Amino acid sequence: MFYSAFAYAALAATVSAHCTRALLKDATDKYITAQTNGQSSDMTAVASNVTYTENEQKVDIKTGILAQPLKIDHNRTIIDTTLCASFTELIVAKSEHPYVIGTRMLFTDHKATLIESIVTDKGDWAFNATGYLYWNSLEKWDPIPKEKRDSRAVIQAAGDAYFDRFNDTKIIVPWGTPCARLEGGAYTGAGRDLSTDTCTPAGMPSSIVVTNRRYVVDEEMGVVDIYLGFPGLDRTQGQLPMPDSHMFRIEGGQIRYVHTVSSCVTPGCGMNGTGPPIPT
Ligand SMILES: *[C@@H]1O[C@H](CO)[C@@H](O)[C@H](O)[C@H]1NC(C)=O
Ligand SMILES: *[C@@H]1O[C@H](CO)[C@@H](O)[C@H](O)[C@H]1NC(C)=O
Ligand SMILES: *[C@@H]1O[C@H](CO)[C@@H](O)[C@H](O)[C@H]1NC(C)=O
Ligand SMILES: *[C@@H]1O[C@H](CO)[C@@H](O)[C@H](O)[C@H]1NC(C)=O
Ligand SMILES: *[C@@H]1O[C@H](CO)[C@@H](O)[C@H](O)[C@H]1NC(C)=O
Repeated sequence: MFYSAFAYAALAATVSAHCTRALLKDATDKYITAQTNGQSSDMTAVASNVTYTENEQKVDIKTGILAQPLKIDHNRTIIDTTLCASFTELIVAKSEHPYVIGTRMLFTDHKATLIESIVTDKGDWAFNATGYLYWNSLEKWDPIPKEKRDSRAVIQAAGDAYFDRFNDTKIIVPWGTPCARLEGGAYTGAGRDLSTDTCTPAGMPSSIVVTNRRYVVDEEMGVVDIYLGFPGLDRTQGQLPMPDSHMFRIEGGQIRYVHTVSSCVTPGCGMNGTGPPIPT
């Protein structure tokens, strides 16, 4: 009897810890429905003690952006069954008030215990939801065929190299060719041949230490999303790290696409309308 009770307990522990793609897909679909309807209660898999933030400030989930119905023109979700986490990219471009929103969720026992959104709109870094939607529509983010999938470590390392390079110009970033970076709505590939363009490192910082990296890695999609604090992004905030998400699509160990969502405190990040340094 001792044996079977023990086996049962072990099985129960395994089951409760098990995190599947189906579970996370369902939870993120419900998140998108909730944002569409402006009803956070449409999200059923949320822990009662959930921590909910927008641009790294604690917000009441019932009164934040989720309380506002939004017409979502594009959504993309990546799923991490190892960390039991997800990241969703939402674009609202064809509405009076456009938004680009990134949302990272962490789950424990099948419920979201952390939901952190970066909510960007006019005045945020390079913001242009029309551009975000347009350039996105030209990209191909199909699941990676099984025999071509990179390991979790390789995918994450490519994203990490990008940020390590911010503080050390000797770091080799595995840029792919072609490669394109979409920042707020500005595209490195604009006006270029998208089949051969590279993510030029021109304009990359050389002495910035990003803080607090948090990951979502999806091997099936070949994607790592890194949340981080970006010191100096908003010129009015000194070295205060700004809320930032970078999503990297990795193919054959190399960076194919980068999508960023970066929040400013002061509209225009204190650059007085001179615009962010987008490589041309
Ligand atoms: C929140 O509840 C979950 C169970 O749903 C538990 O694992 C977690 O430790 C709790 N977190 C806090 C901060 O109390
Ligand atoms: C998310 O996008 C897919 C197409 O990529 C679409 O089929 C689906 O309906 C969208 N989900 C919602 C809730 O809008
Ligand atoms: C936003 O992006 C669209 C599509 O690339 C472009 O036509 C438009 O000029 C951009 N708007 C601004 C203000 O840059
Ligand atoms: C950033 O670069 C400086 C100068 O090389 C170095 O002293 C420092 O340790 C680096 N910081 C990190 C976190 O890598
Ligand atoms: C923006 O304008 C303010 C006020 O004129 C000035 O103090 C600041 O240095 C300017 N910032 C940049 C990045 O030009």
